[in-house]
Amino acid sequence: MSKTSIALIGAGLIGRTHIDRITRSSNLQLAAIADPTEAGKALAGSLGVPWFADHRSMLDAVKPQGAVVATPNQTHISVAVDCLERGVAALVEKPVADTVAEAQVLVDAQTRTGVPVLVGHHRRHNPINRRAREIVASGRLGRLVAANVMATFLKPDPYFDVAWRRQKGGGPILINLIHEVDMLRFLMGEIVSVQSIASNAVRGFEVEDTAAAVLRFANGALGTVLLSDTATSPWCWDFCAGEQDQYPRQNVQSHFISGTHGSLSLPDLELWNYRGERSWHAEMTQEKTFVHKADPYTWQLQHFRDVIEGREAPLCGALDGLRTLQATLAVHDAAVSGQSVNLAA
Ligand SMILES: NC(=O)c1ccc[n+]([C@@H]2O[C@H](COP(=O)([O-])OP(=O)(O)OC[C@H]3O[C@@H](n4cnc5c(N)ncnc54)[C@H](O)[C@@H]3O)[C@@H](O)[C@H]2O)c1
Repeated sequence: MSKTSIALIGAGLIGRTHIDRITRSSNLQLAAIADPTEAGKALAGSLGVPWFADHRSMLDAVKPQGAVVATPNQTHISVAVDCLERGVAALVEKPVADTVAEAQVLVDAQTRTGVPVLVGHHRRHNPINRRAREIVASGRLGRLVAANVMATFLKPDPYFDVAWRRQKGGGPILINLIHEVDMLRFLMGEIVSVQSIASNAVRGFEVEDTAAAVLRFANGALGTVLLSDTATSPWCWDFCAGEQDQYPRQNVQSHFISGTHGSLSLPDLELWNYRGERSWHAEMTQEKTFVHKADPYTWQLQHFRDVIEGREAPLCGALDGLRTLQATLAVHDAAVSGQSVNLAA
């Protein structure tokens, strides 16, 4: 089997996760690493792959089939556009950009070049979410009514020793909530308006430590997301979905979706409905779907291979990345202004 050559641009925390999955794979080949740091150079040396300080030199010399863009947010668009203009497909880490205007630059570049973009909203590749989406699409929940998400966790105090994490934009709305927004868009459909309240009452930093968002979906359903990085609580996806070994796993649920004919909790995929009379006086039936645990980062890279080789359309393209960013920024803006924010379809 011929291997698909993938270059890695930005070998930091998440870049190394991608490198780990690429080097373990039987059908992907790590073509090169571009990262200006000594640590990036040393990593490339230890893996026996070419190292470049500059991603453009790497793209021109190595000509990989795809590149993972895992650099800081503000560089995503310029680096990804450099890839597309050389015919190299790009897996761009989330958030796709810092602003909607920048994200639009990538959407335009994708349209102009015809080279695919996959945005790294890795939860979409988790088989739990894929199954949940199938259940919703099957109509078993009926018409969607409501979604309730808990994203409450405790970041340790030393996390905030880095100044930008205490300042505007460094808080859980833009860092963490974006994952919930993308997952809700994936399962519930487009978000059309947003209201929210944020608080910094516990940590007292410039940035929020807690927020409550209310979302309206295009299909008329409503959603709430409770978010806090200062709560001693097990109720968040990262703890209960088992995606990342760095978080001890908790046997709880974090996402609840209700329709006119059934409700679904995640990650346990329990489906509740009425078999006979549909009434709050009647007994409910509880069904469970088991899915195999799988690493979403591995699945995401395998999907990227299929995208590069033209077998699949990106599960999260540039426009999807833009819309998720737009709705997340709207939660932030609504908290600041106290006004509801409408999102253009
Ligand atoms: N999907 C996820 O689960 C997930 C998790 C963590 C981070 N992320 C995203 O991944 C991105 C990187 O985050 P991180 O935590 O790995 O950051 P990091 O600071 O650990 O790593 C960034 C790396 O990029 C390198 N770099 C900077 N500019 C570069 C350039 N122009 N060319 C090449 N390399 C360059 C830096 O030297 C560093 O090694 C961010 O956008 C973040 O939001 C996603």
